[in-house]
Amino acid sequence: MREEISLKLEEVKNHLGELDRLGKAIGLLYWDMQTYMPKKAIESRSAVIGDLSTEQFRKSTSDKVLEFINFFSDKMDELDFASKRMIEEMKKDYEQTKKIPEDRYREYVMLSAKSEHYWEEAKEKSDFSIFEPYLEKIVEFQKEFIEYWGYKDNKYDTLLDLYEPGITVEKLDKIFGDLKNEIVTLLNKINSSNTNVDRSILTGEFNEEKQKELSLYVLDLMKFDMDAGRLDVSVHPFTTNFGNKDVRLTTNYVKEEFTYALYSTIHEGGHGLYEQNISDDLENTSLDGGVSMGIHESQSRFYENIIGRGEDFCKYILPKAKEIFPQFKDISEEDFYKAINKVEPSLIRTEADELTYSIHIIIRYEIEKELINGNIKVSDLTKIWNEKYNEYLGITPSCDREGVLQDVHWAGGSFGYFPSYALGNLYGAQMLNTLLKENPTAFEDVRKGNLENIKAWLVKNVHQYGKLYSPGELIKRITGEELDAKYFVNYLNEKYSKIYSLD
Ligand code: CO
Repeated sequence: MREEISLKLEEVKNHLGELDRLGKAIGLLYWDMQTYMPKKAIESRSAVIGDLSTEQFRKSTSDKVLEFINFFSDKMDELDFASKRMIEEMKKDYEQTKKIPEDRYREYVMLSAKSEHYWEEAKEKSDFSIFEPYLEKIVEFQKEFIEYWGYKDNKYDTLLDLYEPGITVEKLDKIFGDLKNEIVTLLNKINSSNTNVDRSILTGEFNEEKQKELSLYVLDLMKFDMDAGRLDVSVHPFTTNFGNKDVRLTTNYVKEEFTYALYSTIHEGGHGLYEQNISDDLENTSLDGGVSMGIHESQSRFYENIIGRGEDFCKYILPKAKEIFPQFKDISEEDFYKAINKVEPSLIRTEADELTYSIHIIIRYEIEKELINGNIKVSDLTKIWNEKYNEYLGITPSCDREGVLQDVHWAGGSFGYFPSYALGNLYGAQMLNTLLKENPTAFEDVRKGNLENIKAWLVKNVHQYGKLYSPGELIKRITGEELDAKYFVNYLNEKYSKIYSLD
């Protein structure tokens, strides 16, 4: 590489490093806001976040960045792969951010920080009207941003692209349409089967301290590095990180439920492992993060479901669960595994079984698509939400907390995010297929409590690369194919046919 180029690349990295450190400071303020911040601090905190985010906005749209972009515009062919990706990403970010007026950006950041707080209050009181005025404004901002950014076929495509580059309404309508049919067919078979699965053992009273003990035990099994991470509590479990040496997970201990905290912890642990294992080489390149939310969710859901709700893991974990919670002392491995996997249409997404889970996502996808295109209004959300649950799952929320208020995403302005969860299921099952070809005994190791071989496979194929490859490139490199829903459908059919003795 010519010296002129390598010197300029160093300048770019210095600049991206400054931006990254500012982002870490903002991230830590958010983390604190969602975990330990006193309630009354919300107004002043959102102003601090607004100021620092404006600083970040200015830095990422400065003349210096434009100068970098112009410098490299006719030298891209001379760059190595990673440097090329770094410059491309910087350019994409510059062009996108530059289109938003600075004052509108600041106002939006402060609004969404505050909205999360009012969402929490609304959820606690199960009263949508507390959150509604904030959500109105958030949705208006989404529409305004889409106008700045532009769109081709569907306004919602612009938002989908933020979380899963390359995914469109046209593609998702097809993928989700097929998936819904497959799920409904399997659900009908399960409903008419003679197998009854009893999950009553998983409800009752579960001491929070003891739940925490189990959560930490499982993170240790997963080889989540506690010297580069933490586990705390928040209303809605999440993962945030400041580089790969400080990865923070949250969970939420529900006293009456055995599975909620356990599987939230495993899920967030899957996100956390991804971030902890991104290569150090990518520091200060802006490529040192998960590539897309779909791939991120593929990792969290791989741990939560494919491993965590799998037969081998359930059998391995049972003796530990019995040691911590004596009420399990008489349950068999088989009944424990089946209880954890009982299929039952339910109201809360994060508590759903693996089969009906994707229906929760499809409902949110359909609602967001119409909302962003102006076909439905925020004031109609409760009604539409409840109607869709009744139509697709045959159940109706009795209050807003169980319905439209259950998720934090809209409060933070994350429209276009929900499809990532279902895409994560698809990516994960497709990766599983390849993993088993290369390592047929992977789950025999899980049965013995050894999760290291699977982790090593995921680090080698997914984690280490960060954003180096696009989601489409990554899945093709790993599996040799484009994303294909058939692997997830096969996985579901195989798993539930066994549990429910279907033919
Ligand atoms: Co997740």
